[in-house]
Amino acid sequence: MHIAIIGSGYVGLVTGICLAEIGHTVICVDNDKKKIQSLKKQKLPIYEPGLDVLLKSNVQKKRLTFTASITEAAKKAEVIFIAVGTPSKKNGEADLTYVEHAARDIAKGMDAYKVIVEKSTVPAQTGQRIERAVRLVLNQKDKGKKPKRVDFDVASNPEFLREGSAVSDFMNPDRIVIGVQSKRAENILREVYKPLKARIIVTDMNSAELIKHASNSFLATKISFINAVSQICHHVGADVIKVAEGMGYDKRIGKDFLCAGIGYGGSCFPKDVDAFIRLSEDSGYDFTLLKEVKNINEIQKSSFVKMIKDILWNVKGKTIGILGLSFKPNTDDMRSAPSLDIIKDLKKEGAKIQAYDPQAMGKAKNLLKGVKFCSDPYAVARHADCLLLLTEWEDFRTMNFVKVKKLMNHALIFDGRNFFCKTELEQLGFEYFGIGVKNHQS
Ligand code: UDX
Repeated sequence: MHIAIIGSGYVGLVTGICLAEIGHTVICVDNDKKKIQSLKKQKLPIYEPGLDVLLKSNVQKKRLTFTASITEAAKKAEVIFIAVGTPSKKNGEADLTYVEHAARDIAKGMDAYKVIVEKSTVPAQTGQRIERAVRLVLNQKDKGKKPKRVDFDVASNPEFLREGSAVSDFMNPDRIVIGVQSKRAENILREVYKPLKARIIVTDMNSAELIKHASNSFLATKISFINAVSQICHHVGADVIKVAEGMGYDKRIGKDFLCAGIGYGGSCFPKDVDAFIRLSEDSGYDFTLLKEVKNINEIQKSSFVKMIKDILWNVKGKTIGILGLSFKPNTDDMRSAPSLDIIKDLKKEGAKIQAYDPQAMGKAKNLLKGVKFCSDPYAVARHADCLLLLTEWEDFRTMNFVKVKKLMNHALIFDGRNFFCKTELEQLGFEYFGIGVKNHQS
């Protein structure tokens, strides 16, 4: 099947490359000509494990091409996915300007039936707006002529890919949600995903859009819930890791997304929670639960900084080593990374920051000024008064902590992801402070 993907960001590229991998002929579009040039040279603008290999092999098999022209891509394809950015406006509402532009440009190139699929995270009823935008352009094109009816369907197919494991999430989805207006569109989308042999949930468009909002907001709620519990654990001397384990074995609760830490970041949860709060307000409902989810997420970062200040006493002039900068491991994505706020606060207090991340330093350098970026984790430890673990990269687990201890001014570790083994580090003579766990001085 011929497929076009409008928008070659994280979602667009993973979707496009993986659809090519399962046998479709895919054309990926982006208005950034430089990005298209480098993709043509098989260079990815993002780091996502396994994606580079699939990019190369599918370009070589001629199943994957790139262009800067939406109209050209739309002409060739039967199914067109819109995967452009939907950034948050100041009031939390999603900015849908790029979605509208994409819809209009698709319509300009349409001369036969197409299924236009919204893949970007959008508020409910965006599908209907896309349909209207396309129809307006088609009517305009037909003006003065005998109306040539070009038929089309709009559908919603939200993505649930996690950065860092996006390729395997695409290939092995828990479910695929398709919100459609017609049997014709449903059959075409079933055909698109047939090679995956996955469970497909078919709904109307509005429900599909809401499934995405509700899923991401629920996951963020789960994280904030365990983070709130971690605050209590800290005070009563309980261990949040054990509490989460005890809760997680209940099938109704489940073990996933119960890791307490410095909070969620990334391109989805912060933005999607905001957008759902806004959407609820517009619907006349005050979703106070989600406002608190957001608030707890902020508290996790500030209370982590407070704990560091309490232990270090005076932060001014002290050297703080940071392990991990990206919002989660296996990605170079720095969007809404908790590290940004934590480093900013510590710098405000006068700390000297030295940091290392296996993938995100290129992007971090543009966002964090006055930070010394190190070539490896040991350089971060050198002369440091304490170490902070902010992203749980597996690489850090195998560090030689005997060497680390020798390099540091003080053997002090603040673990923002409860990642290291507290007992092992304490046996080596470190003072260890985690989130909601019994700490060195508790
Ligand atoms: C998320 C959704 O999982 C995915 O379905 C959606 O399509 C996009 O948004 P992603 O942002 O890539 O994916 O990462 P995810 O693994 O969900 O983690 C999000 C954030 O939550 C990270 O900052 C992570 O560190 C944090 N997190 C996750 C926790 O703090 N605790 C947990 O238990 C799980």
